[in-house]
Amino acid sequence: MEAYLLEWANLLLRWTHVITAIAWIGTSFHFVLTDDRLYRPTDPESLAKGVDGETWAVHGGGFYHFNKYRVAPKLLPDHLHWSYWEAYSTWLSGFALLTVLYFVNASSFLVDPRVFDWSPAAAIGGAIAYLLIGWVVYDGICRLVGRDAEGHVGGDLKVGVLVFLYVCVATWIACHLFVGRAAFLLTGAMLATLMSANVAMVIIPGQRKVVAALRAGRTPDPNHGRRGKQRSVHNTYVTLPVIVAMLSNHYGAITQGSWNWLSLILLMAAGAVIRLFFVIRHKGKSRWELVPLALLLIAATAWRSAPVPVVATTAAVPFARVQQIVQARCVACHNAAYANQNVRLDSPEAIVQHARDIEQQAVILKIMPMNNATGISDEERAALGRWVADGARVP
Ligand code: HEC
Repeated sequence: MEAYLLEWANLLLRWTHVITAIAWIGTSFHFVLTDDRLYRPTDPESLAKGVDGETWAVHGGGFYHFNKYRVAPKLLPDHLHWSYWEAYSTWLSGFALLTVLYFVNASSFLVDPRVFDWSPAAAIGGAIAYLLIGWVVYDGICRLVGRDAEGHVGGDLKVGVLVFLYVCVATWIACHLFVGRAAFLLTGAMLATLMSANVAMVIIPGQRKVVAALRAGRTPDPNHGRRGKQRSVHNTYVTLPVIVAMLSNHYGAITQGSWNWLSLILLMAAGAVIRLFFVIRHKGKSRWELVPLALLLIAATAWRSAPVPVVATTAAVPFARVQQIVQARCVACHNAAYANQNVRLDSPEAIVQHARDIEQQAVILKIMPMNNATGISDEERAALGRWVADGARVP
């Protein structure tokens, strides 16, 4: 019963998480596009009002005219739309999903003693610390290095390079502490935490101060705007890496192995390059060379993650041997009481029925046994492969 309730919690939280993430990223992409498509207005009336950039769009049967004011309009309107709950609810639903999926089953989903030997409770603490430390280091880099010669917010290139290096180191650390699948997810979650914290701790508080200053008739400190812009630029480039980190964790061939951290870095770099391509395109330019660069990074990941084929056995393999291997290596997680993905492997008929799946998962991709929890050997994989290749026959 508890397992069934967890299934529902999983589905409902995942649904919520995807909805909130679409709302957040959709809004964010829309504002980035609008900001990149601004033209200086020609109409003297707009210029007199302090409009610095405008963009026209047609959508859903109507025409829209966005105006961006240099600092703020002369008169602040009463109704000002703020966007932040999209970001907060994405983080909250994501953290809840992380808890239901990984923390509840920490002993098998978070901890692999061959990667790092610690207790489930310590691993949960480690995972939470990983998220928090990510923010402390990132925010520290932005605050300490993110200044130009006059002491204003700036130094974007230095900050970008340092943040990239930190993400590489953090990815390596996660892949040396947690099960590959959890490491990918946590790295995505760490970056998503930076994005949400940028909204909660920097962008929104800065905007509140600007609004308060304007309402009080004071000139707002331009550093609030600059800092907010710097953080939202980071958020834009981190978006696609976060999504690919969270999705690629479903693909065991990519998340397993001792060089899995390199696969994740390459994939995330591809995500940032793809985003860069679109940001430049919003500005009306095309840097087509970024497309092969992104494809090259993805191809490098595919090449890096390709499973090493098992050496084929020459002798035919009797079914009794297959049954023995499956019993020892698979049945613990694929039986009547506990059948992952609805796959049962606890009878000769079931083994024959799933012969192709066994070949795919355990021989070609080597994703099963999950994290090789049951310690299958390459000879055993080869034996399963040979039996399937010979027609998966039961005597
Ligand atoms: C430690 C537990 C564990 C062991 C041992 C294990 N599996 Fe699995 N298996 C899982 C889990 C968990 C899933 C679901 C994976 C997912 O949802 O991504 C799964 C899924 C599968 C699937 C379905 C994959 C799909 O995407 O449709 C097959 C087939 C499979 N396992 C075969 C095997 C074989 C063959 C073995 C033995 C060589 C094995 N498993 C050993 C845990 C295990």
